[in-house]
Amino acid sequence: MKLLVINGPNLNLLGLREPEIYGSRDYAALCGFIQDKAAEIGAEAEVFQSNHEGAIVDKIQRAYGVFQGIVINPAAYTHTSIAILDALKAVGIPAVEVHLSDVSLREPFRQVSYAGMACIKTYMGLGFEGYAKAMDYLKDYLAAE
Ligand code: DQA
Repeated sequence: MKLLVINGPNLNLLGLREPEIYGSRDYAALCGFIQDKAAEIGAEAEVFQSNHEGAIVDKIQRAYGVFQGIVINPAAYTHTSIAILDALKAVGIPAVEVHLSDVSLREPFRQVSYAGMACIKTYMGLGFEGYAKAMDYLKDYLAAE
């Protein structure tokens, strides 16, 4: 099972960035956490981060026929990007949405998730653990398919 984990803008600044919201662990720690989880469930994971919407769209398009599942934290593009929503729908790869913070308790502009409309499940407010839950969910979902 090959999983693609996509992280959107500013997540590369984890640790530095608003630690009271996103925690004090850095992006390298998140990548390590994801790889440890992949090893635990017997999956192969590629972790991709970009600050650019088009690069994320390109990555989703190239995932077709290569990855069986996608975990995506589109970060701020969650709330703006119909292009990422359309790319997820176009490739039809089962995708799970993750947010480190609980966006449902935050500003009104964070209350819409376009990408989430193409996802089979969302985890929010669980920090790094949300990625682990998303990977477990995809493993079970793909096994049942
Ligand atoms: C985020 C929440 C988004 O609203 C925000 O723009 C981010 C990170 C999260 O992981 O909690 O950059 O996706």
